[in-house]
Amino acid sequence: MAIDYSQLIPNNVDLSSDRRLQRALENWQPRFLDWWKGMGPDGASSFDVYLRTAISVDANGWANFDYVKMPEYRWGIFLAGQDPDRQIAYGDNKGKPAWQDVPGELRSTLRRLIVTQGDTEPASVEQQRLLGKTAPSLYDLRNLFQINVEEGRHLWAMVYLLHAYFGRDGREEAEALLERHSGDPDKPRILGAFNEQTPDWLSFFMFTFFTDRDGKYQLASLAESGFDPLARSCRFMLTEEAHHMFVGETGVSRIIQRTCELMKEHKTDDVRALGAIDLPTMQKYLNFHFSVSLDLFGQEASTNAANYYTMGVKGRFLETRIDDDHLLTNSSYEIETIEDGRIVKKAVPALQALNERLRQDYIEDCARGVLRWNKIIEKAGVNFEMKLPHRGFDRRIGAFTGARISPDGKVLSEVEWKANEAKWLPTDEDRVYVTSLMGPAVVQPGKFAHWISPPARGINGQPADFEYVRFN
Ligand SMILES: [Fe+2]
Ligand SMILES: [Fe+2]
Repeated sequence: MAIDYSQLIPNNVDLSSDRRLQRALENWQPRFLDWWKGMGPDGASSFDVYLRTAISVDANGWANFDYVKMPEYRWGIFLAGQDPDRQIAYGDNKGKPAWQDVPGELRSTLRRLIVTQGDTEPASVEQQRLLGKTAPSLYDLRNLFQINVEEGRHLWAMVYLLHAYFGRDGREEAEALLERHSGDPDKPRILGAFNEQTPDWLSFFMFTFFTDRDGKYQLASLAESGFDPLARSCRFMLTEEAHHMFVGETGVSRIIQRTCELMKEHKTDDVRALGAIDLPTMQKYLNFHFSVSLDLFGQEASTNAANYYTMGVKGRFLETRIDDDHLLTNSSYEIETIEDGRIVKKAVPALQALNERLRQDYIEDCARGVLRWNKIIEKAGVNFEMKLPHRGFDRRIGAFTGARISPDGKVLSEVEWKANEAKWLPTDEDRVYVTSLMGPAVVQPGKFAHWISPPARGINGQPADFEYVRFN
């Protein structure tokens, strides 16, 4: 179904055929806009931003690019196309037709999963709300705003499901999604990483590389859900998500590029004296964002994860492409845990290890990105290698909680940890330094802050010096 833009809420779910649902969502819409005005990008409501807006859910040509004022962005409800023959691919319900409605016994489980996913979307907008003030270029400012409006749309995607399929409980949850706020001591967001601050652009690029990528893996496993409307929502969200990770990866690449150029040009490692970000500091930010994002996958061995799979509500990454029985009742999976002060490998029932398996897929994906970063460093002739720390490093959730693990995977005493912590994680001094580089936004088209290189190419075939944002 095409996207109907004549409606107050653009959608491809035939919203106008369900007046009650339409009215409920039209009631939620002004509250969303109030939230956007209060918690969205600060001071940017009059800017004309060169944004993409979804106009179709087809893989080819799904987006239109034009200048839009963000509060006028057409946030809508877009589900990927329906396969009328789709079957549940795994678990006890394997081979049965996908559910077009919520099975009664799965109601609270599905609601919880949708709320948890939905909560992350506005949270990241809140975390990023001040970054526009210090954007290193118009190109970057535009990318920040693009991500912000799309996270807003992802909230809409989850709120639609809550309103359409979960009755009064769903409507209440939709309200609560606007009432919790990132870092709020009384009403924080549900997951830890989404209550951290994103105070500077290095953090923003690391966040979009590591934490938006967690989003990719969560969405991909929900895209395998037996609950078809959820699967279809997540599939279209993944299309948008790719750009967020692109912004993160290329953002870090461009900082690396600039740093390496200055190191070569001035024959020094001390690029701080030159107003750039040194590679060891970038490594520390990487360590922080990676470990915080690993926590989002949950416990290594989890009965909840097993139940989600067995019931058919949450699958594995690319479930249908995996060559096994899709039941997992007779297989095991090796996880790492701590026993007697040592890191040991331990086989657990595969069903219980699904969080860890998803985390492993995620780690491999991150590692490919880090490899591309290292290529830039190598090509510049600089002797430095970025590395993902061990999965047990600085964790707050799971088997490694409370343990002190070095980036190369050694169990440390508290004394050893304390002696090295400042080498591995950003110190207050590092953060003060990085923040000090975040000058007022660079607003001349084609100009970039001193500490970052221009991008290889612009957005939608436009040049890098295109006027991506007009301030009026
Ligand atoms: Fe998102
Ligand atoms: Fe995202």
